[in-house]
Amino acid sequence: MKSEFGLFGLGVMGKSLSRNLAQKGFNISIFNREVAGVEESVAANFKNDHEELQTAKAFSDLEAFANSLQTPRRIMLMVNAGKTTDSVIADLVPFLTDGDILIDGGNSNYLDTKERHDLLKNKNIHFIGVGVSGGEEGALKGPSIMPGGNKEIYNLVQPYLEKIAAKDANGLPCCTYIGEEGSGHFVKMVHNGVEYVEMQLLAEVYSIFHRMGTAPDKIADILASWQPTANSYLLEITIAILRKKEGDDWLVNKIVDKAGNKGTGNWATIATAQLGVPSSMIATALFARFNSFYKEDRIQASINFTTENQELVVDHQKVLEAYQFARIVNHYQGFKLIADAGKAYKWNLNLSEIARIWTNGCIIRSDFMVELIGVLKEEDAILKHKTIIDQVKLLKPSINTVVANCVLNELAAPCLSDAVNFFNGYTTANSPANIIQAQRDYFGAHTYQRTDDESGTFHHTNW
Ligand code: 6PG
Repeated sequence: MKSEFGLFGLGVMGKSLSRNLAQKGFNISIFNREVAGVEESVAANFKNDHEELQTAKAFSDLEAFANSLQTPRRIMLMVNAGKTTDSVIADLVPFLTDGDILIDGGNSNYLDTKERHDLLKNKNIHFIGVGVSGGEEGALKGPSIMPGGNKEIYNLVQPYLEKIAAKDANGLPCCTYIGEEGSGHFVKMVHNGVEYVEMQLLAEVYSIFHRMGTAPDKIADILASWQPTANSYLLEITIAILRKKEGDDWLVNKIVDKAGNKGTGNWATIATAQLGVPSSMIATALFARFNSFYKEDRIQASINFTTENQELVVDHQKVLEAYQFARIVNHYQGFKLIADAGKAYKWNLNLSEIARIWTNGCIIRSDFMVELIGVLKEEDAILKHKTIIDQVKLLKPSINTVVANCVLNELAAPCLSDAVNFFNGYTTANSPANIIQAQRDYFGAHTYQRTDDESGTFHHTNW
């Protein structure tokens, strides 16, 4: 009997997803490339190691893998984004037939996904770009899945993706059709941008308490006391991380403070700039990672310029409220980027549904995300919603105090600061952009619109 679903690529995510598919009772074929002397019998060994994969078929030969699948073939690619994805597609295509469906489950750039979709369309092969979030554990137990592509073709793979996805509080799959090609990977990219900010905010909160001389396990206790108000997966893991000891010391004290990245934060920053959307916190979180990477420069500069030992005293409750405020701005900016991209690319996105599929399985799942399902049903921008406006008004004085204290005591808090600065600009009816327009007109005759001319005509002054 031929298999109903194929999984190509047995890296960490591919392995977990294939086990998930098999556990759900699907008949699958799995494939992994063999590199003689380096990686041999990966698929066969992996199958033998797992009870649920006993009925699965394991391959290292592409043609045999393709021939083992029912047509139209449904093949999910779990390979590295970028060139590897292109070369895998090129290798697979000769063994495919009209109407087959390739599903790219990697962290691909949405612009590449659009290109691949068009390229394969010419060969009568369908292409669905799918964002998958949740890491290794999520992939095994149920990730959040963000599929983009032609809706009718998506319907042919929907039962598989929905079955392996995490379930929300109502038992519905954390998988929903996002929109046309590219939209699934775009939404996953923004998910990662929001993730970068949430991680950075927790790092900043840690550094505030650390500066106040609080030990990691005590910081964990403080963060644990925040859970009833501001729980999230990232808060949970940060608490666990801060409690982890190695010998007499906490493990965090032994981790080099240089943050890596795999590219999705860069793409989200590029996308927000290209679309002209002021989702500044994603860029700030990304640049904080870049700044961290210049360790030697920082060490030298800390000697040249600063005294890092300045005393900082801030009230715990105020830090919590500053954190909540910054998270609201982060989520506002993330959904704003998605909403504006949706309009620019005519994707017809459902923001509330996107919040819903982010309530479980994914890295940015949180109690706040659950609240946003309802908020985004009523408003397309969360800072326009009555409940959120009320919350923000209550929280704002705290972030003012916390950020001011950080600045006065020379403690870097880039994302907390950006949240409050963005917000102050966003809530300013008359901005100083009149000066920018005048300067542009002065040196470049770029023209400007006048407050006393409602027609919107552009004027030039001979300054
Ligand atoms: C997820 C994660 C996952 C991964 C990214 C980000 O949603 O499961 O976002 O995709 O952690 O690769 O990694 P970097 O921090 O290395 O960019």
